[in-house]
Amino acid sequence: MRLRFQLNGEPVEAEVPGDALLLDLVRGRGLTGTKEGCGVGVCGACTLLLDDRPVSSCILPAGCVQGREVWTVEGVARRHPEIVDAFLRHEGLQCGACTPGQVVMAAALKLRGGEPDEAAVREHLAGNLCRCTGYRAIVESVRAALGS
Ligand code: FES
Ligand code: FES
Repeated sequence: MRLRFQLNGEPVEAEVPGDALLLDLVRGRGLTGTKEGCGVGVCGACTLLLDDRPVSSCILPAGCVQGREVWTVEGVARRHPEIVDAFLRHEGLQCGACTPGQVVMAAALKLRGGEPDEAAVREHLAGNLCRCTGYRAIVESVRAALGS
C-alpha cells in the first residue's frame, strides 16, 4: 500500500504492508519517540496527533493516514517547545516511558484552546498511564505549558 501524508509538517510517501500499524509506520521511519506500551489501546504511550486529535497508534492501521496530517512527539517538541520546557522545569517525568504520550496529549489540549483547570487536565490525561510520577508533576507541567 502506497501512502501519501504529512508527517511533522512535511509531505512524505511510504510503502507499507496492508496490515501495518500506524505505530510501526512512524517508528520504521526513525521516529522512535513514540513508544509501544500495552499494544491494545489502553495506556497512551503510543499517542500521536492525527489531524491534531490524539489517537492510539498501536491499534490504528497505517492506511488511515492517507491524505492526512500526523504529528509525533518529535514534531510536537519542535512545534511546541514550551511543552517540553514545562515538563523539564516541573519534573513531569521519571523513567520517561509515558512522557512522549503525555507531551502529545498536552499539545492536543493546547490546540483545543482555552485555559483548562486542574480537573480538566486530569480528565484529559486519564487515558495516559504513568507508573512513576503519581501524576501531580505531569498535571503541573501541562498546566504550566498551557499557562492555565
Ligand atoms: S501502546 Fe498504544 S495505547 Fe498502549
Ligand atoms: S515517568 Fe515512568 S511511566 Fe511515567
